[in-house]
This record gives sequence, structure tokens and C-alpha cells, in this order.
Amino acid sequence: MNPAMETGLWSAAAAMAATNGHTDAEWRAAGVSIDSRKVTPGDLFVAIRGPRFDGHDFAADALAADAAAVVVDHRPDGLDDDAPLLMVNETTTALEDLGRAARKRTDAKIIAVTGSVGKTGTKEALRFVLEQQGPCVASQGSFNNHWGVPLSLSRMPADTAFGIFEIGMSHAGEITPLTKMVSPHVAVITNVEAVHSAHFDTIEAIADAKAEIFQGLAPDGAAVINRDSMLYDHLLAAADAANIKNVIGFGGHPEARVRLTQVGFDPEGSTIDGLVDGEKIKYRLGLPGRHWAMNSLAVLAAVHAAGGDVSLAAAALADMPGLKGRGLRHRVAMKGGSFIVIDESYNASPVSMRAALEILGRMQPEGDGRRIAVLGDMLELGELSQAAHVDLAETLAAEKIDLVFTAGPSMAALWEALAEPMRGAAADSAVGVLASVTDAIRPGDVVVVKGSAGSKTGPIVEALLDLGAPCDAGPTTHRRAVNG
Ligand SMILES: Nc1ncnc2c1ncn2[C@@H]1O[C@H](COP(=O)(O)OP(=O)(O)O)[C@@H](O)[C@H]1O
Ligand SMILES: [Mg+2]
Repeated sequence: MNPAMETGLWSAAAAMAATNGHTDAEWRAAGVSIDSRKVTPGDLFVAIRGPRFDGHDFAADALAADAAAVVVDHRPDGLDDDAPLLMVNETTTALEDLGRAARKRTDAKIIAVTGSVGKTGTKEALRFVLEQQGPCVASQGSFNNHWGVPLSLSRMPADTAFGIFEIGMSHAGEITPLTKMVSPHVAVITNVEAVHSAHFDTIEAIADAKAEIFQGLAPDGAAVINRDSMLYDHLLAAADAANIKNVIGFGGHPEARVRLTQVGFDPEGSTIDGLVDGEKIKYRLGLPGRHWAMNSLAVLAAVHAAGGDVSLAAAALADMPGLKGRGLRHRVAMKGGSFIVIDESYNASPVSMRAALEILGRMQPEGDGRRIAVLGDMLELGELSQAAHVDLAETLAAEKIDLVFTAGPSMAALWEALAEPMRGAAADSAVGVLASVTDAIRPGDVVVVKGSAGSKTGPIVEALLDLGAPCDAGPTTHRRAVNG
């Protein structure tokens, strides 16, 4: 039996009390899942009714995968008579109840992270540095919506020291109920940018939607906000309106409480001098780019506000591994040498495109290698879309990108704007441009692949990795991550 099962995340009694439900069986759950395909033995499976599927149809699968029990609002057909069921009124509410109960029973310091970009990266960096300071839980991936947040909360054991939860939104009003559930001690807004601009008229409206995170913050809690943001005053006013006294601005601004005073960028990361409430701090950050330097300030500000050890956290940042789809690098061996792939396939917006291209610009291709950008559409930009895509031409030129491949209908506008020598190939989709990309690669190249999740540029990364041939150093090196 694994140790988690002995301790038990949820006993039958605790889950019953939390959900006002009923179970006849005795069980202990070590985890919580809402996807029967991802159930690990000992999980409590909550049969959620989604837009396409009803979890009740998969309750039997979950039990076959050794779920400890299933949370249902009626008895699904085909279950054994003695199947361990937790019968509740409504399963989505039950999941929220579990989340709220998990939040209530812990003394953990709770950090909530929202923002236009960098939520997951900041959340993962907080997990990485705080794991070294006590039992720590964090949302899985980008589980940041009306299912992801309660699910993540429900997975928090009582004896957690630090809980870090990502909260996302694409419409006004979505964050308020989620932050009330999370009830954070520290609320981080990484930044406010025109990312989901299709659903908002103004950037101030986006800022207001992010600032909803303060609604769940206790009055003695801390708001961590970007001091360099154009919307700083707006966010400060929102914190003030929510009665938050402890506002920690982070950034390069002289008034930032967590302030970057000097930074040296290199292709592998940054070396940073800063001030945390006036105390000098110096650290190495093992992830490259200005945006990561900024995220690291937010991380230290949150650690500071949560009562963690800031020096220890800063020291840990040197070893922060790269994140899949968000800048993870691979060196791929090929005939005559090797090339580097920077996997940015998880998401894209104007601000993160510029961040990624700035990093590519700082990379030094070997031999006659080139800087290559493979770009998929940035989605959900609404009426800003056309201009946002065209504007990338300027950034690509400024960062001395040699060759550009574009995938998708919105990227066609960029293609038109590109100088002829920079044109690699263009297609309507990532699949369409894939072969042109793999054909073009030669030793020494540095390639970034980036697009919104819906643009599906991931297969291009996979195809580039598949070009890898085992090299002299051993068979594992052809898919090695360069920085983590
Ligand atoms: N502060 C930032 N500014 C600009 N881009 C960023 C920032 N932080 C992360 N990114 C980039 O934005 C993309 C999405 O990052 P992620 O952490 O997944 O954000 P989110 O969870 O908010 O969607 C990645 O390409 C990442 O490298
Ligand atoms: Mg995310």
C-alpha cells in the first residue's frame, strides 16, 4: 500500500460530511479524479456531467481502474451491488464541496495565481521553490477553471504547508467564485495583457476581471501585482477597494517592493540583482528571457508574502527546469552535428511571442546554422488579430530571425509582411507546413515552434525531435532537454 493511501486524502466519513452525501461502504481515497482514463488506484472518482460526456457513464471504468469510490448523483447501470458509491445531490457541487472542505481543514499558506500570461510558469516555479520548504501542493497543469480549481483544492491533504492554485478566466465574473473557493492568503496577478481580448472591450476591463482575485483574499492577505504594468494604478485601486492593505509591487520600477535592480541575460538564463523590501538579493535563474526574470520576481514576492524563506527560494531558482511547451529545449543530433528545438507549442499571444522571439534572438546558432521561427496562429485576439500578426514582422527582423515558417489563416497576414529572404514556407495549418520545416533543418539551427494551443503546433515539435539520430554520446542524448 502506498503511503498516501495509509494517510488517506479522503475517508468515507470526511467525504460524506463535506458533500452531505451518503455512502454505505468503508473506503479511503488517496487522490481525486474526474477523468476515468486518468484514474490511479485509490482515487475518488467524481462523475462530472460535462458538455460532451457524463462521468456517470464511466463510473464502472473508474472502479475497474481501482478507484476507491465513485461520487454519483444516481446509481449508474451495470455497477456491482457492493460498488463503493458516494451518493450526492449533484456531482459538480460535490466536487466544489470537497474543494471547500479541503481548503477549510488545512493550515497551509495558500497562494492563488492569475494573470494574462505566465500563470502556469509562475505556479510551477512556486511549487518548485516551496517544495523545498514544506509539504506543497499545486494545481496540475492549467487546471484553472470551474472544474480545475475545485479539483485541485480537493487534492490538497490537510497537512499541506503551501498550496498554490492557478485561476484562469476568459470572461468577466469567472474568477470571483473561484477565488472565494481558494480563499488565498496571497493573490498574484502576473500581468495584464490583451490576450483574451476577443471577450473584452478594453484592457481596463481585462484588468478588472483579473482583479476579481482580490474578492477571495482575506483583508490581512497580500496582493502581488506587476509594478511595471500600465494597469498598475488600476489594479492598486482595485486592491484598495477590496480593502487589501498589503500590496507588493514587483518589477523594475523604483517603487517596486520586490525590485529588479540589475539583470544579465544569457541564452541559458539570467543573473539577477534585486531588492526585497529593501534587502539585497542576488540569484541565478535557470530559465532564459526577460519574462522569466519578471515571473521570478513575482515568485519571490509571493514567497515573501506567504512567510516562506526568500533566500532559499531565490537560490532554488537556479535549478528550475524548463516546462514542456513553454520554452523547454531539446538538442537533437543529426547527420553532421545537431540542432536545438525550443518547444513553445503550448500557447501564444503577442506578449509571449515577443518573449520567445527575444530569446531566439539571443541564441547563437553554431556554424552555418540559422535562427528559425515556426509560428502558428495566435487565437482569441478578436479585432486586434490582424495587426497583432503583422506586427510580428518587426520583432522577427529586430531579433535577426533568419527564416520563418507560418501555419494558419491568421499567420498568412504575417507571411505577406515578411521580407522575401526570411520566407521559409506558409500553409493553412501546422500539419500543412510540417514537412517544409523538417526538410529545411540543418546542423547548427536553433528553431522555436510557437502557436496557440488550438493551432496545434505540437506535432511539428514531435517531428523535429523525430529527426534525431542517436549520437556518439549515447542513445538518450538525442531527445535530451538542454535546460531541464
Ligand atoms: N511574464 C510573461 N510575459 C510574457 N510571456 C510569458 C510570461 N510568462 C510566461 N510567458 C510565456 O507565455 C506562454 C504561456 O505561459 P504559461 O505559463 O502557460 O501561461 P498561462 O498559464 O497564463 O497561460 C509561454 O510561452 C510562456 O513562455
Ligand atoms: Mg496556464
